[in-house]
Amino acid sequence: MGAQRVAEVEAEARQRLAGAADEAALEAWRTAVLGRSGSLTAVLRGLGGLPEDERRAVGAAANTAKAALEAALDARREDLRRAALANVEALDVTLPGRPAPRGRLHPVTQVRRQILDIFARLGFATVEGPEVELDEYNFGRLRIPEHHPARDMWDTFWIDSASSAGASMLLRTHTSPMQIRYIERHAPPIRIAVPGRCYRYEATDATHEWMMQQIELLAVDEGLSMANLKGTLQEFARQMFGPERRVLMRNSYFPFVEPGVELSVDCFACPGNDPACPVCRGSGWIEIMGAGMVHPEIIDAAGYYSTRYTGFAAGMGVERVTMLKYGITDIRAFYSNDPRFLAQF
Ligand code: PHE
Repeated sequence: MGAQRVAEVEAEARQRLAGAADEAALEAWRTAVLGRSGSLTAVLRGLGGLPEDERRAVGAAANTAKAALEAALDARREDLRRAALANVEALDVTLPGRPAPRGRLHPVTQVRRQILDIFARLGFATVEGPEVELDEYNFGRLRIPEHHPARDMWDTFWIDSASSAGASMLLRTHTSPMQIRYIERHAPPIRIAVPGRCYRYEATDATHEWMMQQIELLAVDEGLSMANLKGTLQEFARQMFGPERRVLMRNSYFPFVEPGVELSVDCFACPGNDPACPVCRGSGWIEIMGAGMVHPEIIDAAGYYSTRYTGFAAGMGVERVTMLKYGITDIRAFYSNDPRFLAQF
């Protein structure tokens, strides 16, 4: 037993280490070399039987070898780790990936944007107004005084508390209050489109929801007439529902327009006479909005001469337009948040 033996043990250990290919093999190697009955440990244990001077020389060599082998073990472990990582990079990149599910815009949002885009190209700026409204704007200034029977057209959610000025408040039942808010602050010529949520206190069924979105149109200028209203809405209907769409105006009543009309487009889902058509039910026409010429009193009340300025207004339901466009028969589908429905758009 001498320095020669230390060198032999170290050389043999290094050779075996080079063959250890995984963590288990490294651990076995460590036990066999540096463990309690390992080959190098045996050398260190045997030191006691050596003469004094030899013991010192062999002891020093054995300790140096021990440190060197420990370092070699660490280095080998690091090499193996790197090799394993290199294998990971050798993945089969031709395998199809796992797609991450993507969100999408709600169908009503998509259609709202389409409608606003169409009107933007026709010169209408998009503006928004408050959902919590004053009674005065939702009704009074639109010529729907308290106890007026026309209030029955819009069943209302009232707000429990009054405004800071003591006025009664509600959730707007339509976007028409923005006609008043806008004309109060902006001089003609006016051309705006007002999207927004509206609320109605009514039972929910296939065609009614307690919350729905409207888009209001308002144009005020010199010389506007029903022809401008009809032309604007006809152009909208063509862009929204198809180039050959026709528009029908029928008499209707809203206190804030005179005359008031109900606007329909000819059915795009059937030739116009199919009694089984889910969209027009055989009538050939689909009602899409209320509209009319802005009542002269509203223009006068805002400080403009109604003899000089005239205007037209219209209000349409975005869910309704979406239902017509896609042949959806139940409005409740929009807000029940079933991904099987929403993922189709
Ligand atoms: N605000 C009316 C409604 O909600 C629609 C409308 C708007 C009618 C503008 C005429 C003019 O039913």
